[in-house]
Amino acid sequence: MKRFVIVGTQWGDEGKGKITDFLAQDADVVVRFQGGNNAGHTVVFDNQKHSLHLLPSGILNPKIVNVMANGMVINPKALIEELKKVNNYQLKISDRAHIVLPYHIDLDGANERSKGKLNIGTTHKGIGPTYTDKAARIGMRMATFVSKTLFSSKLKKLIEVKNNELLKYDIKPLSYKKILNEYQVYANEIRPFVEDTSVYLNRAIEKDLKILFEGAQGVLLCLDHGTYPYVTSSSPTAAAVPLNTGIAPWLIDGAIGVTKAYTTRVGAGPLPSEIEGELAEQIRITGNEFGTTTGRPRRIGWLDTVVLRHTKRVSGLTYLAVTLLDVLTGIDPIKVVTGYELNGKVIDTIPAEINDFSACKPITIETPGWQEDITKVKTFAELPKQAQVYLNLIESIVGVPIGLFSVGPDRNQTILLKKFVEEQS
Ligand code: IMP
Repeated sequence: MKRFVIVGTQWGDEGKGKITDFLAQDADVVVRFQGGNNAGHTVVFDNQKHSLHLLPSGILNPKIVNVMANGMVINPKALIEELKKVNNYQLKISDRAHIVLPYHIDLDGANERSKGKLNIGTTHKGIGPTYTDKAARIGMRMATFVSKTLFSSKLKKLIEVKNNELLKYDIKPLSYKKILNEYQVYANEIRPFVEDTSVYLNRAIEKDLKILFEGAQGVLLCLDHGTYPYVTSSSPTAAAVPLNTGIAPWLIDGAIGVTKAYTTRVGAGPLPSEIEGELAEQIRITGNEFGTTTGRPRRIGWLDTVVLRHTKRVSGLTYLAVTLLDVLTGIDPIKVVTGYELNGKVIDTIPAEINDFSACKPITIETPGWQEDITKVKTFAELPKQAQVYLNLIESIVGVPIGLFSVGPDRNQTILLKKFVEEQS
């Protein structure tokens, strides 16, 4: 494959940053195509941990061109902060990406508070309100933000409108002058990176460059195909890539679905495979299952193959990349969800109505666990038999070949089973 998508197959936090970083070693370009700094991608290299929220995961490699495409929502302040932590990078930012402004963050918090117990559990980064404004056609795009003549007047109008909205929630009005002064500084820093990235990407394709499209969050958080309303406000599916980057759909060769060897979820919403108590705590601690963006403890569940088959159908998956296999060491037996029972009937798809999904009881099978430390394993054959059986089981129930698996956080703890990026010509 020359151009493929990294898709989160569950509820996010599957280890996409690590897999992208690993596969990016062979890529020329890495593209983020949706979401904003609600994402948290952790890349560990040479024992050094890098937490990325907005920047594409190729940013640590000076040879790679990193693109933040039009489908993203970008908080300029957060971007500047993140750029301070990296050096020697190549970056291009779409002139059509939308800007997260301070009122979006205030409105995110206010919306959540007004929902009380029914809140979504958002990351409070202003993501939903920014996409809302995009759809309502009152958003600020990057081209306007970095315009020396248009930004101030557009901001003035928007702050007037948004201050009225904030008043309804008893939030103090924002100062236009203060935001203008602060954000003009950010605009000056960001301006040199801004261009029409669709033009760049299409030229890169003409030159036959290898391009990796990096999804944030997971398909179960997709606005259309996720567990609505407990979702984010964009689509992390492979289908979103053409629209969100400005390339033709048929130019994409495939998708790699990153899946944890178990399941996690942060924020509210049903999780049929959920485990609680000591076992969940053991997995949470061993897998360091705390949000990169919010620090919240993640909820834990068994691997749910209904979810993976759903992702395969709505997004398309060419290969699976199974991460955090080492976290299951010492757990015996290991359970795998194969279907749900809903109102006395067995189903193997995800119901659209969230109350039905909440009522789903998991149907599980068991497979034996292993006790051996697998963190130094370099090949599939070196895995204990039970771990091999587990991976084979996933492959056969989901119906997608496993292209790689990982046994620890470092780049060197990733074992490639298939060569999916073509050799340099
Ligand atoms: P928002 O994207 O901040 O609006 O949050 C909506 C839902 O998506 C919440 O349940 C968040 O916890 C979840 N979410 C957003 N980004 C991520 C992510 O990168 N990983 C996991 N969950 C996420």
